Amino acid sequence: MNLAILGMGTVGCGVVEVLSMNKSKITGLIGEDVTISHVFVNNIHKERDVDLKDAKLTDDIGDLYGADDIDAVIEVMGGMEDTRDILKKFLEKGIHVISANKDMLAKYIDELTEVANAHDARLLYEASVAGGIPILHAIEHGLNANEIHKVMGILNGTTNYILSKMTNDGWDYEKALKESQEKGYAEADPTNDVGGFDAQRKIVLLSRLAYDRKVDIEEVPVTGISNVELKDIETAKKEGLILKLVGKSEFDEHGLSVEVAPVFLPSDHQLSSVGYEKNAVYVNGNAVGETMFYGPGAGGPETASAIVSDLINCWRNAGRKQFNLTPQQTASVKPSQSSNK
Ligand code: HSE
Repeated sequence: MNLAILGMGTVGCGVVEVLSMNKSKITGLIGEDVTISHVFVNNIHKERDVDLKDAKLTDDIGDLYGADDIDAVIEVMGGMEDTRDILKKFLEKGIHVISANKDMLAKYIDELTEVANAHDARLLYEASVAGGIPILHAIEHGLNANEIHKVMGILNGTTNYILSKMTNDGWDYEKALKESQEKGYAEADPTNDVGGFDAQRKIVLLSRLAYDRKVDIEEVPVTGISNVELKDIETAKKEGLILKLVGKSEFDEHGLSVEVAPVFLPSDHQLSSVGYEKNAVYVNGNAVGETMFYGPGAGGPETASAIVSDLINCWRNAGRKQFNLTPQQTASVKPSQSSNK
C-alpha cells in the first residue's frame, strides 16, 4: 500500500513513528507492506526527527495529483477551503482519505462525505475528535443500536492541561499555556484552543454522528477559558468545585442543544478527575445507559494511533481484504506469572 502524508508536524511525525514501531502487526492486518511514497510539506528543507526513507518530499501538491500509485492519503496539515479542495481531488480518484482536520471537517464533512460516497472512497477522521480515544468508531459502530440523547466531554487537551496545572499545581495561566505549547498539545495558533473553538468543532462532529443530524457550527455557542483567573479556580476548589471546559450536546423531543463553556463541576463528577492533556467523552444511549471513554486528547503517537487505525480499517473494509485470523495469530493462553497472594 502506498501512502501519501500531507503535513509533517507533531502528528505527521507520530504517524511515521507508529507505522515503524508496529510495522509487523500493521502489515499483518493490512495484508501488505505500507510504504510512505509521498510527503507534502510547506518547507522541504526543515529538519525533521523522523526517517522518511525513500518518500518523495515535495512542496507542490501537483506532484501528488500526477502520481498514479497512491492508495491512501493522510491529511495532518490543517487548513480550510484549500485543504477541502485538495482532499476532494483525491476522493474523486477513489483514493481513501484519513484526516485529523477538525476545523475543516466540522464545516465540510457533509460535502466531503458526498464526494467520497460517489467515488467508492472512504473518508475516515477518528483523530479529529479526542486524539487517541476511538470515540467516533464507538458511536458509529459500537453504540449504533442506541438512540443517543446526550454527549458531553472534555475535548481539548490544551485547555484541560492549563486548567489542571492551575487547579492542582497553582500555576498561572500564561505559564501553563506556554508549557502545553512546548509539549505539542496546542494548535499553531492557540486561540482556537483557549477560545473553545477547537472543542466546538469536536462537539459538532460528535453530535452529527451521535444523532445522525447535520449540525451547523455557526449555531453552536462557545465560551473559552482566556478570562479564567487563578483566584477563581482556587476559591472554587475550596468549595469542592473543579473548573473544566466542557462540550455538551443533548437531543430530545425539544430538539438539539449544543454548547461549549467552562463549567464548575463537583469534585466527584465523572469528568472532574480527567486531568492534564487527557480527554474524556460521556455518551448516554437509551439501551446501554451511561458510557465513558477516556484517553489522551493530543500528542504525536497518541493521535497517530487513531490515524493508523483508520488506515487499517479503511483498507480492511474496502472490500480488498477480509479480516481472517491465521494460525500464527492464534496464541494459547499462558498461566499468569503474577501471584494474587
Ligand atoms: N490542540 C488540540 C488539543 C489538539 O489541545 O486538544 C488535539 O486536537
